[in-house]
Amino acid sequence: MRRSVRDNSEKRDYKIIIVDDDPGILDSLSSVLYRQGYSTTEITNPLEAIDRLKIEHFDLMVLDYLMSPIHGDKVVEEIRKFNTEIYILLLTGYKDLAPPLETIKKLAIQGYCEKSDRFDQFILLIESGIKSISQVRTIKKFSDGLNRILQAVPNIYQLQPIGDILEQILRELLPLLNSQNAFILVDNYADVSNESDKSIFKGIGKYSDDVSHFIDYLGHEMMEQIGNSRVNKNSISFNNGIIIPLVNEYGNSMGVIYAEVGVGEIEEGLKLLKIYCSIAASSINNAFLHSLVNEKNDELSKTYGMLRERYMDTIEALRLVVDAKDIYTRGHSDRVSYYAMKVGHFMGLPDTIVEKIRIGGLFHDVGKIGTSDDLLAKKDKLTNVEYDEIKMHTIKGAHILSAVSMFKDIVPIIRYHHERLDGTGYPEGLKADMIPLETRIISVVDAFDAMMSDRQYREKLGLETARKQLEAGAGTQFDEKVVTSFLELTKDFDTFQNEMNAFLDSKAKH
Ligand SMILES: [Fe+2]
Repeated sequence: MRRSVRDNSEKRDYKIIIVDDDPGILDSLSSVLYRQGYSTTEITNPLEAIDRLKIEHFDLMVLDYLMSPIHGDKVVEEIRKFNTEIYILLLTGYKDLAPPLETIKKLAIQGYCEKSDRFDQFILLIESGIKSISQVRTIKKFSDGLNRILQAVPNIYQLQPIGDILEQILRELLPLLNSQNAFILVDNYADVSNESDKSIFKGIGKYSDDVSHFIDYLGHEMMEQIGNSRVNKNSISFNNGIIIPLVNEYGNSMGVIYAEVGVGEIEEGLKLLKIYCSIAASSINNAFLHSLVNEKNDELSKTYGMLRERYMDTIEALRLVVDAKDIYTRGHSDRVSYYAMKVGHFMGLPDTIVEKIRIGGLFHDVGKIGTSDDLLAKKDKLTNVEYDEIKMHTIKGAHILSAVSMFKDIVPIIRYHHERLDGTGYPEGLKADMIPLETRIISVVDAFDAMMSDRQYREKLGLETARKQLEAGAGTQFDEKVVTSFLELTKDFDTFQNEMNAFLDSKAKH
């Protein structure tokens, strides 16, 4: 939405003064402008008009040329001594009585117009005058904002604990947006324990108390948008707020700032905001680089612990909702996680990787939270559009997990679990080794569990058929080694299944 002089309430924002010694003309001009949505002040005495301008701000002046006791050009000459900003439109009775061009230039009169019974030209001139005034206002706002940023930079760069830097960044940002409430979520690259999956949260206004306020606000859509903004390095505007990614000078996404913003404030300020946020990102980066934040900050560690816990709870809740949404896939993510974990161990992968696969299995379909229930339950063949919507669950899920850095290793599993070795999968059509091994494991066990479950459009396939389908897909859809490992591991499927059920039951009881 481009911001322009677009409605009457905004038109009334501009103060217009009309000066003409003929009350009849004064009256008709003000009626014409009133019908256009402008409100005006009318004055018949030019000397009085000069005095009025000394004490009151006006944006635009419509001024008659031939007046008594002084002519319009004299009025302008007086006004320009103390006011160079007001936009002046001079009205002339007759063309040959217009002031010479030299005078118009010298006095910085922006336009002149012949009086006539038709007001088209007059209205056009007023509209273009208001447009210029609006542009000047925008430029002024920008230059004020830039000044503010320049003044803020030394404060931000001062050596201080990271928590203070983040708070300072938010405090300097809010006046640019006319806002009270904001938070910043940033990856902690400086953590000495090298747990770079830690995120730091700092809020002000209604988010200042603790991280719970942030979590309370955080629906899955907001999570998805935060992740989306980070991944695509784009700002995302809402009705009442904006997410801006923090991208450092190396082009790495470090986190986001979210700020609530008044209606109509975003568009004009967006460029400023981007400048400001790039300064903010590099100052945070600098703080980390200089290891200013190495000393443990108890408050931030506590905040991180809560953030991690609450975020984990939120995603777990989303997962359970997704499982419950679709009766045909109930328990699916638990089983996929278990199968995948077992395959990982069987293939001799390190524990850290197996843990990634386990969590990836749990959350692989979490993006279906954004897929409509009707679509998930549809028995008939899906249309192309519907299938495209289903496919989006990979990207939505990846965005949900991208919001905070603690899941950064899991994101590719979620994003690519429907890719196929031959490049015909989605969302990106990755081929073979471009698909991470962890993801290739999830793809096999995901497909297996799907085949072993009833679906709204077919009954379950049965063990033998499912195993054969995996074999048939090995090398094209699935990783051959993963398929072989899985089939070997589940040779005695009854025993395997009993162990799995016992494991999942015991987990459910906890
Ligand atoms: Fe899926």
